[in-house]
Amino acid sequence: MEITPASIHDYCVLHSSQPSPTQVELVEATKRFAPHVAHMQVGNMEGKFLTLIASLMGANHVLEFGTFTGYSALSLAEGVSENGKVVTLDRDPKAVAIAKAHWGKCAEGKKIESLLGDAKESIKLLEAEIAAGKRPHFDLAFIDADKAAYPLYWEACFRLLRKGGAILVDNVLWSGGVLHPEDASDHAIHNFNQLVLRDARVQKVMLPIRDGICLARII
Ligand SMILES: C[S@@+](CC[C@H](N)C(=O)[O-])C[C@H]1O[C@@H](n2cnc3c(N)ncnc32)[C@H](O)[C@@H]1O
Repeated sequence: MEITPASIHDYCVLHSSQPSPTQVELVEATKRFAPHVAHMQVGNMEGKFLTLIASLMGANHVLEFGTFTGYSALSLAEGVSENGKVVTLDRDPKAVAIAKAHWGKCAEGKKIESLLGDAKESIKLLEAEIAAGKRPHFDLAFIDADKAAYPLYWEACFRLLRKGGAILVDNVLWSGGVLHPEDASDHAIHNFNQLVLRDARVQKVMLPIRDGICLARII
């Protein structure tokens, strides 16, 4: 199911801030590197949404689950302060190599720290560093890695983020599969959405942006 008609999506993109030259290059490089999964990139509409949320919050420390080739990390980096940082987690060294090659071409890229490996392990490391006072709590998290682990990443955010911090979760509409769940992924995302709905620790809104975004604020 198309969440937003293509014509409306294109109109929205045309009337939003335009992608940076590095983001344009990253889209092309990703199409060459992985044509079948290039759609995993958040793209310009969602990318600009991430930039604006980070910037409106005055976020300094942002955590991302799921780097892929680095488009969303770059979008978040555009929104954080000059001394801000985006820590991004992924286990795919080839995708991350493309990300790093492009981040190296622009000032925003210098704000990004990549942790390579299973995100479930990386968050243990981050938790330990925060507990030891080596890192501040994060202001904002963007969850966009393996969907089955969304509940685990969600829960980790309550240990890794400060009170008043925000969590963004991608693909919560799963191309409409959540309406009448059939396969395991439909059920996983629908169950996750139910978990968020019941979670009294956050205020939340689900938005039909691209494949659906949940925006939550830790109370
Ligand atoms: C949808 S893509 C992320 C897209 C990215 N946010 C963007 O806009 O370009 C999901 C990424 O999650 C990564 N991933 C999946 N499971 C993971 C895990 N357990 N640990 C770390 N990364 C994981 C994949 O390697 C993939 O690059």
